[in-house]
Amino acid sequence: MWRRSSRESFPPKNIPLNSVSSIEDLRRQIAEWRTAGERIAFVPTMGNLHEGHLKLVDAAKANADRVVVSIFVNPMQFGADEDLDAYPKTPEQDSSLLDGRGADLLFRPIVADIYPSGTNEPTFVEVPEISDILCGASRPSHFRGVTTVVAKFFNMVQPDVALFGEKDLQQLISIRRMTTELNFPIEIIGVPIVREIDGLAMSSRNGYLSESERAIAPRLYEIIKDLATELDKGVSEYSLLEQQTTKKIDAVGFKCDYIVIRRATDLSEPKTGDKLLAILVAARLGRTRLIDNMVVTLD
Ligand code: PAF
Repeated sequence: MWRRSSRESFPPKNIPLNSVSSIEDLRRQIAEWRTAGERIAFVPTMGNLHEGHLKLVDAAKANADRVVVSIFVNPMQFGADEDLDAYPKTPEQDSSLLDGRGADLLFRPIVADIYPSGTNEPTFVEVPEISDILCGASRPSHFRGVTTVVAKFFNMVQPDVALFGEKDLQQLISIRRMTTELNFPIEIIGVPIVREIDGLAMSSRNGYLSESERAIAPRLYEIIKDLATELDKGVSEYSLLEQQTTKKIDAVGFKCDYIVIRRATDLSEPKTGDKLLAILVAARLGRTRLIDNMVVTLD
């Protein structure tokens, strides 16, 4: 079942055989599984895998017979001033982690196959409104890049189920909407945030933090937990809470991009009586932009 693709000229040595890089090889393997009546789960990633990604694989295995994982650092979701070239790449480690976790197929396409006419002005998929707020406001076209590449992967893999981390809540909600509105027959499962022992949400970007920044980073989670406690107590002056929390975040050494209280289902402004809220935060620590969130259910 495991084959090395004939087109796999670029990967480093020692990559296990259970990977393909061409869309043709991917489709051939998927067709085999479909013919055997197997249910397929898909976990898209950009590599540099950590326990957060591996929990997506675990959830995928619990929901399907076969698990396909993609590793593709998607140029379309990086802004001109962002870290595309510096994005951490650990292909050998990723392969062995996926092997260890029982993934069935690793798909590592090349940019020219995903964007056959280049990345300048490709056909794109964009979910209105949600793509422009919060992280979309400071990273214009980021969500367009995400939904475009995920739609492409959905067409290639045609999974029954796809799994995304709840850490990128805005991404998860955008993808849910895209899936519904483009009629993809795919179940989207959100998988809870995985945290380091000190509470820092796992992220490939944590590797950019210096030792002193790494010591400060978990404060972000502590601050949003405190805000959740205020909401639990019934405090409902949301914009005042947001202003106060911005100050706290800045005071411990971050530069707060946003801290907001929104409806958890669609990230719109909460209305009186809303019970399911989400706290979402993005803040810079040195050159690293961290995001986190917490869903709060009010009594
Ligand atoms: O969450 C990510 O790693 C990426 O945004 C995704 C979903 C793999 C699309 O490139």
